[in-house]
Amino acid sequence: MIYEEENKIPDILPDILKEKSPLDEENNLNLRPKRLSEYIGQEKIVETLKIAIEAALQRKEPLDHVLFNGPPGLGKTTLAHIIASEMGTKIITSSGPALEKGGDLMGILTHMEKGDVFFIDEIHRIPKVVEEFLYPAMEDFAVDFIFDKGVHARTHRYRLEPFTLIGATTRAGLLSSPLRERFGITRDLDFYNEKDLVRIVKRSSAILEVTTEEEGAYEIARRARGTPRVANRLLKRVRDYAQVRAEGKITKEVAMEALALEGIDEHGLGETDRKLLKTIILNYKGGPVGLEAIASTLQVESDVLLDVVEPYLLKSGFVIRTSQGRKASEKAYAHLNIPHKGEPGLFDKRRL
Ligand code: ADE
Repeated sequence: MIYEEENKIPDILPDILKEKSPLDEENNLNLRPKRLSEYIGQEKIVETLKIAIEAALQRKEPLDHVLFNGPPGLGKTTLAHIIASEMGTKIITSSGPALEKGGDLMGILTHMEKGDVFFIDEIHRIPKVVEEFLYPAMEDFAVDFIFDKGVHARTHRYRLEPFTLIGATTRAGLLSSPLRERFGITRDLDFYNEKDLVRIVKRSSAILEVTTEEEGAYEIARRARGTPRVANRLLKRVRDYAQVRAEGKITKEVAMEALALEGIDEHGLGETDRKLLKTIILNYKGGPVGLEAIASTLQVESDVLLDVVEPYLLKSGFVIRTSQGRKASEKAYAHLNIPHKGEPGLFDKRRL
């Protein structure tokens, strides 16, 4: 179970990870690039898509099915919309948990026009019965209607217009192999580097009509957890602060003050991240400890930790994943200013 489904967001989650308000969503849509040429970062993926799209357009065929895997906020949905724009087709969006019955899927598939993009977010959460309808749809552009049951069961094959399925998942490992194998293009989205995030902050600043100095953009970028969605959220909070407290201009100092007020530290860690690290260090002697134990101590769904909180902590080296569970790294002790007993690491030596 993850937090969207329950519509119950643990209080412990920082604001930047909480659900979007309709207004926010509208703004975010404006900030999203609409074409591949505007897209910053993920160069290899963008290049693959440019080639595949141009080739499909030349052949007057729909693009191959595409699967995007990676943590939230890295651009999976944005890329799906861009693909539809570049192909000059419509996009129909749904999500794994929303497709409860085979009939839900049938209704969508049978109404699609040639070349349309069908985007399924959280595709790893699609029910098995629905997934089985997808196989012939993806492979043969056909769906099998089943009439009657048992010995009287008859099937009728219904032809579909050729379409492109784009799946997005935070956990490609949970996809069954028959489903995974039916995607022609599968790509993992990685966290963005600071240089690209600075460019994204500057681009968004121009759209939001706020003056952001290079150093101000950098302060936001380096606290954005390698994630454009977070960078844009932080930019909006800093913009508010700048407007009310600092004549509207985002300088380095303004960004630092505004982000400190948000509880975001210089590594981009928020309250949830720090609580997670402290739990491992103080409750479980630095680990190794299982994710379930951390989740129950923090009273957060383990899926939220796994999909939303932990990926950046692993990437940035605050948490280490071992076969016995999660461990806090020396960097985590140093960051929280907690002496590291046990192994005499770099941090201990520095403190002596
Ligand atoms: N806004 C959010 N993600 C972006 C990206 N990858 N490139 C440009 N603008 C963005």
